[in-house]
Amino acid sequence: MNQISFWCLSLLLTVVIAAEETPITRIAFGSCANQSAPQPIWDAINKFDPQLFIWLGDNIYGDIRRPLTVIGKERTFGPWRNSPRFVPSSEEEMKLRYAKAKANPGYSRIQRKAKVIGTWDDHDYGLNDAGKEFDRKVINQKLMLDFLNEPLDSPRRKQAGVYASYTYGPPNRKVKVIVLDTRYHRDPLRSDGSILGDTQWDWLENELSGPRSEITIIGSSVQVISNLSATTGPLFYMESWGRFPKERKRLFKLIADTKRDGVIFISGDVHFGEITRYDCSVGYPLYDVTSSGLVQSVEKVVPRPLRSIVRLLFWYTPSTMRVINDNCKFKSCTYGIILNLIPFTFSSDKLWKDLLTSQDTLEIRDVNGDTVLGTNVSLSELQPGGSNSLKDTTTKGKSQRYCTLEIELPGTTRYRLAVLIYFTIAVLAMAILGLIIGAVLAITACVYKCKVD
Ligand SMILES: *[C@@H]1O[C@H](CO)[C@@H](O)[C@H](O)[C@H]1NC(C)=O
Ligand SMILES: *[C@@H]1O[C@H](CO)[C@@H](O)[C@H](O)[C@H]1NC(C)=O
Ligand SMILES: *[C@@H]1O[C@H](CO)[C@@H](O)[C@H](O)[C@H]1NC(C)=O
Repeated sequence: MNQISFWCLSLLLTVVIAAEETPITRIAFGSCANQSAPQPIWDAINKFDPQLFIWLGDNIYGDIRRPLTVIGKERTFGPWRNSPRFVPSSEEEMKLRYAKAKANPGYSRIQRKAKVIGTWDDHDYGLNDAGKEFDRKVINQKLMLDFLNEPLDSPRRKQAGVYASYTYGPPNRKVKVIVLDTRYHRDPLRSDGSILGDTQWDWLENELSGPRSEITIIGSSVQVISNLSATTGPLFYMESWGRFPKERKRLFKLIADTKRDGVIFISGDVHFGEITRYDCSVGYPLYDVTSSGLVQSVEKVVPRPLRSIVRLLFWYTPSTMRVINDNCKFKSCTYGIILNLIPFTFSSDKLWKDLLTSQDTLEIRDVNGDTVLGTNVSLSELQPGGSNSLKDTTTKGKSQRYCTLEIELPGTTRYRLAVLIYFTIAVLAMAILGLIIGAVLAITACVYKCKVD
């Protein structure tokens, strides 16, 4: 072959390859899917017809949850507990659970129609709240990658951890998706140590400094922006980047240092959906869209009549980062209803027509496919000094509130949930005590009266 025809051929190939790269405009993602429970959410996701589906962890519930026992030989709850609430399953059991998840008819349809990628969280990693100390991580990594149909020769099968990156779309319409592994290398909770570990940090730095993409989605199993623990403690704490403040700062600094714009976080884990935003970290607003509860949800664990109380508590718990707007189905702007949640629509076809002005929609949808939370974001907003970013944070504009950390709230606001709960418990305890005293007094009076009679 002479040079010119070779050149023509390679040009032809390039054209063919470029023509094949359709822009990605519909992405769905989710987390927390109990393989043993019905999964009607796939109908809504199929209806949305995503080109890409991203698993954000707890893709199966792999570990064994033991009953909540307060008394007896094996106590799993309370300060006096002596045995673990969660224990890992055998390899065979993990395989069975993955097989069940993979065979779900709704998910099978997604697998045929869309690209499916993802990472894991604690329950599919193999143990509730586990980190780098967990000894079954090597074998469980293999099972998880089998579930995702990772090719046998993929480098991802040789590395320590399931982190990965993908780039989709033609030039100028590139979407890069990075999925992090927040388990394999994570130091113990409360250590303020590392989440990603050195190797993954080096890799991430490389990925973020690499070729430009118009949008960079970073998937983390646990929430990045919201630090709910700061307002739910000391009642209870959640896992999140907020619990590792040094590591979180490092992440924001890396994004700023690599001058990566268009970064959006997606996360799962918490069994409810919310959209949060932090404006004072990298020079433009960092959004974190949490889609959690493909199957598991906060409200599912309480009886139906009590669900409005759960919603009320959500609304009452302060949050400085949550995006509150008119699109929310509930006043709290969280969504944790039974069997509900989300595909997440990210970007409309419109987006690619005019990258700089069009609005891109971040949405959380329910089991019927209806939007329950949403916000419009334009790409120009996700750039340093872009519209509605730095500008707003320096004026007393509406976005001002997205700069205050939860821990900077005045104590009376920050701890109002704990105060309410403790107060309620105290009142109930006093009422019960009062009843008991009343009863005792009445009985003694009666006994005395009977004797006198
Ligand atoms: C998963 O669903 C099954 C069937 O509904 C239920 O028995 C089990 O407790 C659930 N697992 C978790 C972790 O909620
Ligand atoms: C998040 O909240 C925890 C618990 O109150 C606190 O220790 C931590 O410093 C907070 N992190 C950030 C980034 O504010
Ligand atoms: C986004 O903006 C469009 C046009 O202004 C509006 O119709 C739509 O409801 C908005 N969506 C959300 C989720 O805010």
